[in-house]
Amino acid sequence: MTSNQHQSVMFDESIKGLNIKNNGIYIDATFGRGGHTRGILNQLSGSGKVIAFDRDISAVHYAKENFNGDQLEVIHSAFSNMLTLLDKRGLTGKIDGILMDLGVSSPQLDNAQRGFSFNQDGPLDMRMDQTQGLSAAQWLSTADETEIADVLYQYGEERKSRRIASAIKRYQQDKSIDTTLQLANIIASVIKVQKNKHPATRSFQAIRIFINQELRQLSETLEQAIELLAAGGRLVVISFHSIEDRIVKQFIQKYSRQKQAPKGLPIMDSEIKETVFKDLGKKFASKEEVQTNKRSRSAILRIAQRSTLKVEKC
Ligand SMILES: C[S@@+](CC[C@H](N)C(=O)[O-])C[C@H]1O[C@@H](n2cnc3c(N)ncnc32)[C@H](O)[C@@H]1O
Repeated sequence: MTSNQHQSVMFDESIKGLNIKNNGIYIDATFGRGGHTRGILNQLSGSGKVIAFDRDISAVHYAKENFNGDQLEVIHSAFSNMLTLLDKRGLTGKIDGILMDLGVSSPQLDNAQRGFSFNQDGPLDMRMDQTQGLSAAQWLSTADETEIADVLYQYGEERKSRRIASAIKRYQQDKSIDTTLQLANIIASVIKVQKNKHPATRSFQAIRIFINQELRQLSETLEQAIELLAAGGRLVVISFHSIEDRIVKQFIQKYSRQKQAPKGLPIMDSEIKETVFKDLGKKFASKEEVQTNKRSRSAILRIAQRSTLKVEKC
């Protein structure tokens, strides 16, 4: 693989999970390098379409250079804008499947200039969309110690969050933190090296999630999927850490759970009510995939199917 490629995670499982109709309209919320998009396109006939989103302009440029044909439209935007943008095109309630392959792509991680990696030196940026918002370096220079500690704890489940935040603020009394290795070294100076894990792993994950507002993006977009999907449409989400997966799991449970009858009372078939989604379960990457693609190690794929039930939003 070259540095501009990304090996799609759980490719077969996610394409199968979408249950593709050849004339359907599908959303790839996280285009990346288009591996999943290509898998969907390969199953479509002339009238089928993929609308893809990516908030990283380099993904959109990649699409322009490597994909052609009028069955694909790639939009440079956070996926949380999908309902607004697709509603304008009259597509609310008409989408046959939405795929979300969360997190960052290999080209983002591998390019030191993007600032996601604690293994390579580069500007401490971490924004997926470099055209807006604060970089990680800008945020660290303005945030106070408590705010930094809270982010590390909430989004990285980092138990040493307070010690790291205090070390960051001590360092900033003399110098600014501008690069990934500066930050990684400050963290390593207060945390013991763990087996197979760089001490900065959790903190870098936490800061990235915070800078890109990844959890808010995810929660908002899951709610939008209710309105966008047609009856029978599939929602397929691949997440890479427990905080993210918890949001997806709780969302699917919330909209697929039957109201409980009092214990011991029999339920008649006619009393079983339709729910907004049917939970079609979760999957993990196969042993073979984990051996060839390290990123798939932590992947959890969840699938749900939209029913015909209308949802009244207040
Ligand atoms: C794991 S990669 C997707 C890889 C892709 N499935 C493939 O096969 O090439 C995630 C991509 O989603 C994008 N992304 C992450 N969060 C996003 C969001 N909230 N809105 C739009 N794009 C997002 C990232 O910029 C990155 O390019």
